[in-house]
Amino acid sequence: MSEGAAKKEEKTRRFQAIKGTRDLLPPETALWNRVEQTAREVFTTFGYGEVRLPIFEPTDLFARSIGLDTDVVSKEMYTFEDRDETSVSLRPEVTASTCRAYIEHNMQQLPQPVKLYCIRPMFRRERPQKGRYRQFYQINAEILGGTDAPAIDAEVIEMVMTFFERLELQGVQLDINSIGCKNCRPQYVKLLKAALEKVKEKLGADSQRRIEANPLRVLDSKLEHEQPIIEKLPRIADHLCEDCKSHYAAVKKELELRGVEYHENWRLVRGLDYYMRTTFEITAKGLGSQNAVCGGGRYDGLVELLGGPPTKGIGFAIGEDRLILSLQESGREQTQPGRSVYIVCIGEGSRSAALSTASNLRSEGFRVELPAVEQKVGKALGQADKLGIQFAVILGETEVSTGQYTVKTLSTGTQEKVEKSKLVDYLNQQYV
Ligand code: HAM
Repeated sequence: MSEGAAKKEEKTRRFQAIKGTRDLLPPETALWNRVEQTAREVFTTFGYGEVRLPIFEPTDLFARSIGLDTDVVSKEMYTFEDRDETSVSLRPEVTASTCRAYIEHNMQQLPQPVKLYCIRPMFRRERPQKGRYRQFYQINAEILGGTDAPAIDAEVIEMVMTFFERLELQGVQLDINSIGCKNCRPQYVKLLKAALEKVKEKLGADSQRRIEANPLRVLDSKLEHEQPIIEKLPRIADHLCEDCKSHYAAVKKELELRGVEYHENWRLVRGLDYYMRTTFEITAKGLGSQNAVCGGGRYDGLVELLGGPPTKGIGFAIGEDRLILSLQESGREQTQPGRSVYIVCIGEGSRSAALSTASNLRSEGFRVELPAVEQKVGKALGQADKLGIQFAVILGETEVSTGQYTVKTLSTGTQEKVEKSKLVDYLNQQYV
């Protein structure tokens, strides 16, 4: 290509969102707002407060918390060298950052436990597909400090289930498991590894690799031919120490007391290294293969691992993109349209009345469209209809001089004269 042609191409280049990232646009963003608003309301009733944390952190924070051998750290992080040569990464999740903030702000001195939530984007360089993006959004909640009483685990789960119920999310299934602690899990992993070595030849390449690096992850495999082999492997429930066993039994009892239905899933190990004891995942309808809409678990050692005091911790993250997808797929995406008015202003003389009407209605919470340029009545009503607006207020010379405004309810076509001072009351009565 000649230099001139290259320059021209550069000039006319149309930019597109980077693969795996998306623009979220109206009207869909109204649903995102409703979901986030509901999360804030529900979480507040359980005593949680919001944190807003940096989008990038030292790479080591994630490497140390999530684990070097995990897919997230070894393959999926957006890592770069900053100008001062330190290595930083876009956050792939926010549990590590929340623990960092807990330590940095001495939150162990606050009344315990500390309950925090965060609704923000995360970044993982995964292969994009439906429900899987490189920039995605999580609704994350963590409870740090205090005790590791099983009622805490159950309450965290109850909270997320209450949230899903409020949204009328369909086909919700909660899977739970206990993956033991640093006393009992190493022995189980040893046993599992030995059992896996015996069947190594029958396993696929990914699972073979995992035997060495992270044998628990073999249990995650979805490969058809591996399923009968995995079913015969030793199960962690049979190898939990007494403390973990009784903790797990008590968590289940606490869930039952709260009326939360669960499925025990011994293969639920989760993909991040910091977990111990309770792990859980929630799936929902309409998501295909990426059907986990929430994942979480207990991580008692993590704050200490990051240089803080011994601290209990448990939490979860909801994949907001997937939650929205599931709500859309099952027709639960409706958001209240809200009260809305289109002002049809006829003639220069009505302009001032139109402006003050718009201002009054907006201060009463109405959405108001006041066209910048005068339109013919027919065109204005057509435009209002296209925008899904409920009422048209028609202001011509007669309306302004008599103070009797013409109001049309667009869904029914009824038209009435309404006294200017009674306009807000009238619209509120008509609005259903
Ligand atoms: P996670 O299982 O890695 O856990 O992610 C939680 C949820 O985020 C997943 O169930 C999924 O819904 C969503 N998610 C993950 N990756 C993507 C992606 N590429 N595209 C769209 N959605 C995605 C964690 O992140 C833990 N920090 C959760 C936690 C909090 N555990 C304790 N506290």
